[in-house]
Amino acid sequence: MLAGNWKMHLTIGESIALARAVVEGTTGVTGGDVIVAPVFTALASVAGVLEGSQVAVAAQNVFYEDKGAYTGEVAPAMLRDAGCTYTLIGHSERRKYFHETDGTVNARIKKALSAGLKPIVCVGETEEEREKGVTEFVIGQQVKVGLYGIDSLEHVTVAYEPVWAIGTGKNATPAQAQEVHVFIRRLLGGVYGGAAADSVRLLYGGSVTSENIGRLIGMEDIDGALIGGASLKSESFIGIIKTVSGG
Ligand code: PGA
Repeated sequence: MLAGNWKMHLTIGESIALARAVVEGTTGVTGGDVIVAPVFTALASVAGVLEGSQVAVAAQNVFYEDKGAYTGEVAPAMLRDAGCTYTLIGHSERRKYFHETDGTVNARIKKALSAGLKPIVCVGETEEEREKGVTEFVIGQQVKVGLYGIDSLEHVTVAYEPVWAIGTGKNATPAQAQEVHVFIRRLLGGVYGGAAADSVRLLYGGSVTSENIGRLIGMEDIDGALIGGASLKSESFIGIIKTVSGG
């Protein structure tokens, strides 16, 4: 699975153009899921462009109520209505700037799943946490609380994105990423059983480029990537997709 997180970039017109380029560039590429996550205002237009293609649409966030007086929020059914199949939840920028907690992440995941929206749950430690040696503790909390009460991983994807690697050009080494992925998979195995944990897709995110994706994806427990900066240009995003698919 390769998901492009466009963050707060691109107008509707620019999003449509990029979506078209991604479809063209990935024609004939098979064997995985390609996803793009535009801004809310561009979701429906991008979904229109991607209809019938193998590229799916994700929202960058979702609220945990169905409807009501929640000015500025968007409910899961509304995202489905706009053509989304997936939604990111708990991205570190949401946690950092908008005070999202593992508790609200949990509520969002539950609500998304109940509306048929597949969550891509983001977890990751800060640089300070890594230096203090509490990476596993932090990731463990985020995964356990985030997924608390969720009885199946069938539609859940987890993205490990070390905060210090996001947008910094300083990506985790394949070995560092693999180590955390194994930790997450074991943790999930303890709760959901080995088979479920083996089939859940674990993405790595943080300064992924067409240069470093090959080494990352070569690691046994890295099943894909969540890509920010490099997904905003069709050449680099398609380069990543082709590297992974071997096309
Ligand atoms: P980046 O962002 O690839 O620009 O580091 C990744 C992300 O935030 O999902």
